[in-house]
Formats: sequence, structure tokens, C-alpha cells
Amino acid sequence: MPPEPGDARLALVERFFQGTGSSYDHMVDAATFGIDRLWKRRIARLVPPRSRRVADLACGTGISTLAIARRLPHCQVVGVELRDEYLAIAREKVRRRGLSSIEFVLGRAEDYRSQAPFDCISSSYLAKYADLPRLVANARDMLEPGGLFLMHDFTYPPKPHLVAVWRLYFKALQRLGSPLFPAWREIFHGLPQLIEQTRWLQELPDALQAHGFVEIRRIDLTLHGSAIVTARRPT
Ligand SMILES: C[S@@+](CC[C@H](N)C(=O)[O-])C[C@H]1O[C@@H](n2cnc3c(N)ncnc32)[C@H](O)[C@@H]1O
Repeated sequence: MPPEPGDARLALVERFFQGTGSSYDHMVDAATFGIDRLWKRRIARLVPPRSRRVADLACGTGISTLAIARRLPHCQVVGVELRDEYLAIAREKVRRRGLSSIEFVLGRAEDYRSQAPFDCISSSYLAKYADLPRLVANARDMLEPGGLFLMHDFTYPPKPHLVAVWRLYFKALQRLGSPLFPAWREIFHGLPQLIEQTRWLQELPDALQAHGFVEIRRIDLTLHGSAIVTARRPT
């Protein structure tokens, strides 16, 4: 989807992800040494088991969407994604597996509205690109009372020795990865800067509190490389 004029967030997503859809699943697995799979499993396990409807915002190629659908086969899962390129891959995966419990919507997560409510609204790697106050306000309207809101994304390590390892890791990705995978150059170079600058971990709890969410919790994952924030819409 071409970015709307003047929207820096959409322009950044376009710059980062253009042309990366077909290699995304392999790259995320290789670049995280398979840790992304563990994070996705953790997300899927946090989705309340009795959920009937779950939204997976910024679902990309459907990795998280499928992880949730596999864990909860009787639940309807709606993946929302900005990029046609990614969504086409997600749709093809679902078609090949013959899954009827998953549907996809092309669009911006902040603009997505559903008439039917959700028991859980989840996302992985959206928080740093999103307009969080707008996203949280809409999520509140779409969640059932007691419904779970969950966001997962990368975090900047809080300790100097972890920062040193983190910087070394991105330097290696830039030096070795960029010449081999030119479509990923923008991400390898831009992502560490974005992770360092984003304030999603501070802004999200503020937005959740402002919109009346309760039980706001944070789970730090693998060497503080990412985190999950969860909250409930009050009953
Ligand atoms: C790193 S990928 C993650 C995809 C998937 N959630 C996963 O974990 O594999 C980030 C995705 O977020 C999408 N995205 C970024 N901002 C978005 C927004 N505001 N609304 C919907 N999708 C968005 C991008 O197009 C991209 O597919």
C-alpha cells in the first residue's frame, strides 16, 4: 500500500519492508537464531484459551496468525496487515493448509474496525511503527469486557554489557547481511536506530492507563531483546 502523504510512520514501513516479503520468514528465523519462534509460541500461549475471536494486527506473512490458529483451532483469527506483498504470502499459506478459521484484512491497524468484538487483540513487531494512543483507543472499543490486549516488540537492552552485544550483532548483520540480501539493507541499518529511539515500552502503558485498561503487565524476553505488554479491558 503506498504511504499516505505526510505520514512518516507509513513511509518508514514502506522503506523497510518493500521487496522483503518472499524472504521474510527465512530471514526472521535466521537473524534471530530461531528465537522469534519461541517468542511467537509465548504470544500464542498468552492468548486466553477460551477465545472465540482474536485479532492479529500487523500480521505480516502470518507467522503469529498461524501460531495462534494452531493453538486455538476453534477460534476465528483475523490478521490485519498494511502490505499487500506480505498478505499475499499469508493468504497462500492459509490456502495451502486448508485453514478456514483465519481471515485477512488489508489495511492499517490503527484504522481497523470490526463489528464483532474480540476476546484478544495481539500484535508482534507493530508497536514501534504504530500510533499507540489511536491503536489502544480502537482496541478498547473492539475488545469484549475482560478481553486481553497484547503487544510484542523489540526493546533496547537496559544494561551496558547487553548493549555492547546488541551493537555487535547489528554490526555483523550490516556487514555480512547487506551485501548478501540487498533488499534487507534498509532494515539492517535502520532497525537498530529505531529500536534505540522508540518509546513504545513507556508510551504503551500510558495509553493503556489513559483508556481505562487494567492489569497492565510487562514480560521481558531473551536478554531483554524484546518484551510483551499485556492489559485487560475492565469487565
Ligand atoms: C516485522 S513485520 C512482523 C510481521 C508479523 N507480525 C510477524 O511477527 O512475523 C512488521 C509488519 O508490520 C506491518 N505494519 C507496520 N505498521 C503497520 C500498521 N500501522 N498497520 C498494519 N500493519 C503494519 C508491516 O507491513 C510488516 O508486515
